[in-house]
Amino acid sequence: MKANPIQLPTTNGNLHKPPITTKHFILPIITLTLLITIHLYLGNFSGLRLIGPATPAAEEDIKCNVFQGSWVFDDKKETYYTNDTKCVIDDRQNCMKYGRPDTDFMKWRWKPNDCELPEFDAVEFLEVVRGKSLAFVGDSVGRNQMQSLVCMLASEAYPIDVSYTNDTRFRRWTFPTYNFTLVAIWSPLLVRTRDSNPGNFTRNSIMNLYLDEADDAWTSQIENLDIVIFSAGQWFFRPFMYYEKGEIVGCHFCNQENITDLTVYYAYQMAYRTIFTTLLNLHNFTGLAFLRTFSPQHFENGDYNNGGNCVRTRPFMKQEMRLDGYKLQMYSTQVNEFKAAQKEGEKKGLKLRLLDTSDAMIMRPDGHPNHYGHPASDNKSFPDCVHWCMPGPVDTWNEFLLEMLKMEGEGFIERAPQRNTTKLNLR
Ligand SMILES: *[C@@H]1O[C@H](CO)[C@@H](O)[C@H](O)[C@H]1NC(C)=O
Ligand SMILES: *[C@@H]1O[C@H](CO)[C@@H](O)[C@H](O)[C@H]1NC(C)=O
Ligand SMILES: *[C@@H]1O[C@H](CO)[C@@H](O)[C@H](O)[C@H]1NC(C)=O
Ligand SMILES: *[C@@H]1O[C@H](CO)[C@@H](O)[C@H](O)[C@H]1NC(C)=O
Ligand SMILES: *[C@@H]1O[C@H](CO)[C@@H](O)[C@H](O)[C@H]1NC(C)=O
Ligand SMILES: *[C@@H]1O[C@H](CO)[C@@H](O)[C@H](O)[C@H]1NC(C)=O
Ligand SMILES: *[C@@H]1O[C@H](CO)[C@@H](O)[C@H](O)[C@H]1NC(C)=O
Ligand SMILES: *[C@@H]1O[C@H](CO)[C@@H](O)[C@H](O)[C@H]1NC(C)=O
Repeated sequence: MKANPIQLPTTNGNLHKPPITTKHFILPIITLTLLITIHLYLGNFSGLRLIGPATPAAEEDIKCNVFQGSWVFDDKKETYYTNDTKCVIDDRQNCMKYGRPDTDFMKWRWKPNDCELPEFDAVEFLEVVRGKSLAFVGDSVGRNQMQSLVCMLASEAYPIDVSYTNDTRFRRWTFPTYNFTLVAIWSPLLVRTRDSNPGNFTRNSIMNLYLDEADDAWTSQIENLDIVIFSAGQWFFRPFMYYEKGEIVGCHFCNQENITDLTVYYAYQMAYRTIFTTLLNLHNFTGLAFLRTFSPQHFENGDYNNGGNCVRTRPFMKQEMRLDGYKLQMYSTQVNEFKAAQKEGEKKGLKLRLLDTSDAMIMRPDGHPNHYGHPASDNKSFPDCVHWCMPGPVDTWNEFLLEMLKMEGEGFIERAPQRNTTKLNLR
């Protein structure tokens, strides 16, 4: 891609070291143990529903940026599901089951500055995606959103597992009444990785990261998918050896004198550039691709392993907190790459959309499990300030998703055989 709005960091990584380091390892740990079995239940399906197609969004909704706003307390707000709903709430995010005493965190509604964000309507969502497939590609925070979506749909329909593998990281479900397919693709870095020492993976082991090669876990699937939501973030903070064109170009926390410690931002930028360039070149992908932006963690008073936690019980107000520091830099890095790709995508018929959740979520230090998640095998005294309680503010991501899908209007996925076939070079 020619358009490159940000300067690459120099090879002197020291100038660009992210300010915070070890605390970010929490996610890999959690994620590794999160290779969960997602048990979804066979459901009963009512007969055909007599509900018309989704109406296109009104003119004023199209103009409103739903991602800019604030959290408003609504004592009457009911959650879309509870810990008793027939859907999977991972124990690690099942805060109510594990005794979280406060409940106000479930009662804040997102209020965009210039419009309303409608409540999620499961039937409406399922009508919008009727006959389509939707995939979540990414890490365990992406899975968090996917599980929230399934629970939010549970009042209307249950999915049936139609996976063709036993690998629980790659699942495929169908909602028969709606002919809607939901797909989970595990790809926490979105580009190709290889454990340097497979079978002996620890949070400090060095992983090889191929910054210019998209992960074929998703490239092999995507041409058959209609809507794809990409997200990746916290895994980038672990130790890596970085490769481009098959050669080592640098590393991150590798402690080898002859190898430059490049920054996490460098890798994040290169990885996203690769992802978008790959998408632009996949001419048979005629669907809609979302980038769900960086999900901020909220450890305070230390790291996950030395007393850090997230004990707040109410959101920050707008004036108290905004994206800054390394979180802002991660966010801008991916968004800059996204914008460059979106411009290119307009010429090539690729529809890229931003699920711009970061601003809203930076204000939700109260939305994480902290100690009220219960990983089966983990030392449960480790707090989790990375993932999001279910129910909780993560449900808002799916309110955003529905709103964005509605904004596409009817027939938003062209079943055209191919897009513009002018190939872009990978840098
Ligand atoms: C759900 O949460 C409530 C507390 O809000 C708790 O009393 C109950 O046992 C939980 N139910 C399940 C099935 O975990
Ligand atoms: C379900 O949707 C697919 C497209 O995703 C379509 O090819 C198929 O014909 C649909 N099946 C039914 C029963 O409508
Ligand atoms: C999945 O597991 C089941 C039972 O453990 C086994 O019978 C089946 O062959 C496995 N399928 C695949 C595709 O590995
Ligand atoms: C894993 O690493 C430890 C220490 O680094 C080593 O003692 C052990 O042999 C390794 N195991 C495997 C399977 O590589
Ligand atoms: C760096 O030095 C180590 C030995 O200290 C060597 O094994 C490795 O191949 C060197 N790496 C590069 C990229 O030169
Ligand atoms: C794209 O789809 C067309 C028609 O189905 C097929 O002939 C072609 O091989 C596909 N291209 C790639 C790169 O898979
Ligand atoms: C196809 O994409 C190329 C490169 O982005 C662009 O220059 C060209 O105008 C596009 N062609 C069509 C027909 O849109
Ligand atoms: C769990 O962590 C706490 C504090 O970090 C530690 O004191 C305890 O020994 C750990 N327990 C296990 C079973 O590892």
